[in-house]
Amino acid sequence: MIVSIEQGDITEIKADALVNAANNELWMGLGVAGALKRKGGKEIETEAMSKGPIKPGEAIETTAGKLEAKYVIHAAGMRSDGFITKETLKNSVLNSLKIAEKLELSSIAFPAIGTGVAGFPEKDCAKIMAEVILNFKSNCIEEVKIVLYSEETYKKFLQIFGKEKIEV
Ligand code: APR
Repeated sequence: MIVSIEQGDITEIKADALVNAANNELWMGLGVAGALKRKGGKEIETEAMSKGPIKPGEAIETTAGKLEAKYVIHAAGMRSDGFITKETLKNSVLNSLKIAEKLELSSIAFPAIGTGVAGFPEKDCAKIMAEVILNFKSNCIEEVKIVLYSEETYKKFLQIFGKEKIEV
């Protein structure tokens, strides 16, 4: 499995599944959620909310609407009141990978979950995502892309992951 660190807009990334930085009620607000909904269509949020609420740390998959991807995986790092912990962030990443495995996907793209509206520190997020993703054993996922919006966030993640492409 190749883990790549990239700077960009996740709605423009080519992958079987795009991970949404969700809240546990699964309505899609600003940030990543807003961008996915804007480009993919409201049907993504409608399907997501029909499967909610979920517990913070859980994840569900939905249609990707008009986006090129096959699925959007909604990773509820935080509770809709903004509550987020290392545990809920870690579990939301792990559960997203488990869903990709269940769906037998070959590629998945993650944003820096929790580091926007939820205010989780970026370096701590990078450490948690590295710990979960670099240790995940998959039979089908060939590529995990971590897509950072700003150059500043990208540099912080690169510092923690060590290089742009890692083979695990
Ligand atoms: N592509 C990639 N990354 C993005 C994009 C984008 N288009 N837009 C924002 N980001 C970055 C942010 O800069 C931040 O680093 O994604 C990271 C996560 O930010 P948020 O999307 O705000 O997610 P989060 O902090 O997990 O808060 C989730 O925000 O929008 C609401 O409905 C959402 O309630 C949920 C909460």
